[in-house]
Amino acid sequence: TGGRIHRLHQQRGARWALPPSRGPSSTRTEPGAQHQQPIPARQHCGLRTEAFGDPAGEALRVLFPEFWEAAVQEGRPSESCLSSAHRVSRRSEANDLALRLARQYTGHWDVVVLDHAYHGHLSSLIDISPYKFRGLDGQKEWVHVAPLPDTYRGPYREDHPNPAVAYASEVKRVVSSVQEKGRKIAAFFAESLPSVGGQIIPPAGYFPEVAEHVRRAGGVFVADEIQVGFGRVGKHFWAFQLQGEDFVPDIVTMGKSIGNGHPVACVATTQAVARAFEATGVEYFNTFGGSPVSCAVGLAVLDVLEKEQLQAHAACVGSFLMELLGQQKAKHPIIGDIRGVGLFVGVDLIKDKATRTPATEEADYLVSRLKENYILLSTDGPGRNVLKFKPPMCFSLDNAQHVVAKLDAILTDMEEKMRSCETLRLQPEAALLSPPLGECALLLVLGDPELGSLPSAGSFVPQQAKPFVCKHFVLTDDPFPQSSFNT
Ligand SMILES: Cc1ncc(COP(=O)(O)O)c(C=O)c1O
Repeated sequence: TGGRIHRLHQQRGARWALPPSRGPSSTRTEPGAQHQQPIPARQHCGLRTEAFGDPAGEALRVLFPEFWEAAVQEGRPSESCLSSAHRVSRRSEANDLALRLARQYTGHWDVVVLDHAYHGHLSSLIDISPYKFRGLDGQKEWVHVAPLPDTYRGPYREDHPNPAVAYASEVKRVVSSVQEKGRKIAAFFAESLPSVGGQIIPPAGYFPEVAEHVRRAGGVFVADEIQVGFGRVGKHFWAFQLQGEDFVPDIVTMGKSIGNGHPVACVATTQAVARAFEATGVEYFNTFGGSPVSCAVGLAVLDVLEKEQLQAHAACVGSFLMELLGQQKAKHPIIGDIRGVGLFVGVDLIKDKATRTPATEEADYLVSRLKENYILLSTDGPGRNVLKFKPPMCFSLDNAQHVVAKLDAILTDMEEKMRSCETLRLQPEAALLSPPLGECALLLVLGDPELGSLPSAGSFVPQQAKPFVCKHFVLTDDPFPQSSFNT
């Protein structure tokens, strides 16, 4: 701002609590503050890469304990169990590999995806991301789009007797029409909880039904857990487990949380799929896939998740957040729906209850007012009207209370403005996020604001700041499990 370049600058700190430099700080040390240097303990290049992610190796034992144990009880990793893993270095690579695995295994080419989905930035993934291809080259003939299982705004809503079966029948319809054209389905790709689609919680039982239709057509089910895996949903470690105890996808891709900001990702699949891939004789080679440092990061994240019981923490804070937001829904008519599980929550803003028209401009205004309060949150959904909450896993009960109190104050003020027919004026972006020097500031980053939505990738702390105190500090460009080492 004002011609100066600002950079986010954190030299020292633990999780989201930064030590005060000077001034009237009441910086609290949060649980987990001991993780100032979680990596070096493991950061020795002698670490064997097999420790994390070899086919049928440690990664699967750690990441899919239930499936692994079931396989061991059966004497060996079974065909239907996720028992083979490939390490890749970037999340998009994981989805691209999943696509290759599916095609190799099935011998088919076409893909069914959910409307408004996003699966990554590689060309192959832009092609299967309606969220992106609609603004670019358009839909390829091998890509087929099924409706989002959105029970708030979609064709089958909360009053439908069985939305899971109804939405799955839509997939069946898509699959049949593909087959009628003489084409063949290789995979159904979906985020276990569609995020870009508007923080959607598919009705329980939808995935097993879809999997049945897709497998019957010779395809496989790919669950993209890149945003939502690793305990975020609280009740389970993986979001696809919300769909039913017995449901197991054929391929699971994971990233983001796995490395807490470090580029590491993984693809897990069944022995059958892995074998078909290997059968080509063309080895899977990835220079940085499974580098010792990445493996060390992955293991450190898993250690922290387990030791600090962050999955249970997500369940507890998430339900508190939902309760607070529920009280806001009763108070502010602009809140049409609150949906969520663990620390994955969406607040759907509407113009009026009867039509459920997305309140896009109001959502924009709210986001900009929250920024003035050092709370970074963004919107998703086709109408860009769903506030997305996917905070780092260390997000606390206090944080939830603070954010909801600000939300309440801004909504009350907005309603007052709207009553008096005042225009809701957006602040110019640059004027935001520039805290007064020497004063305490609180920055909470709740969505997974892509770097683009953080001016200059986080122009928050003036570079030559005099005493500047962050009381709390939460920064993430992804829904990392905790931010001990990603800022
Ligand atoms: C659901 C999902 N899949 C895949 C990706 C791709 O990850 P990356 O940009 O790290 O390659 C993203 C990124 O936001 C994502 O949200």
